[in-house]
Amino acid sequence: MKLIMLGAPGAGKGTQAAKLSEKLNIPHISTGDIFRNNIKNGTELGKKAKEYIDKGMLVPDELTISIVKDRLMQEDCKNGFILDGFPRTIPQAEYLQKALNEMGTDIDHVVNIDVDDGEIIKRMSGRRVCPNCGATFHTVFKPTKTEGTCDLCQAKVIQREDDKEETVISRLKTYHEQTEPLIDFYSKKGKILTVAGRKEIEETSKAVLEVLGV
Ligand code: AP5
Repeated sequence: MKLIMLGAPGAGKGTQAAKLSEKLNIPHISTGDIFRNNIKNGTELGKKAKEYIDKGMLVPDELTISIVKDRLMQEDCKNGFILDGFPRTIPQAEYLQKALNEMGTDIDHVVNIDVDDGEIIKRMSGRRVCPNCGATFHTVFKPTKTEGTCDLCQAKVIQREDDKEETVISRLKTYHEQTEPLIDFYSKKGKILTVAGRKEIEETSKAVLEVLGV
């Protein structure tokens, strides 16, 4: 299955994509994670991306498209993939459509996780991530078993730099201006499946599986 996870920052795209990836045995491709790994490793791409990410802005399309292009060519994407955080602009969606057409394939569904801005701001302050394996937790909604330690690899979990409230507000503004129009773009193609993302993580997962029919 070829899927896109759409939704505001903090809507739960990464949380649900990780669960789906395990269930469907297809790769979870998060452009945010790719950028964060590059920042951690001090690459040229990471240095450029950081300038935008720290301000709550989008990384320019040409940089983002080139990393997705390389990733989709890899062997493990042959039987499907879950794109999390891409596309995020109309030009990115148009590029993806063209690339998939050339490969003789298409996206099956776009799962749109719908959460209001007030809830997002509350969620982001409690998010903790593992800098080693990328697992995501929440101090209240998904706490680690041992305080401050990743359940999967035992590294010390951290707060993402772009989860500061003022950056979250600017990420939400960017989302409404540049990414929300994709709901209409994919609705016109009959691909959108909207799930209310305000419920608890497990309940949201059930709703995602139900709309996908898996
Ligand atoms: P990215 O990492 O993609 O950030 P984002 O879209 O802002 O999404 P998040 O990762 O913040 O949230 P999420 O929806 O995955 O939520 P999560 O599951 O973690 O991108 C970061 C930056 O990189 C961007 O700002 C941009 O600059 C750049 N970038 C990335 N892709 C780009 C692109 N295509 N083009 C240009 N630039 C790009 O959940 C959030 C928290 O809530 C967690 O703590 C979780 O445990 C908790 N939670 C999840 N679900 C629930 C629930 N149902 N109830 C309660 N808590 C919940």
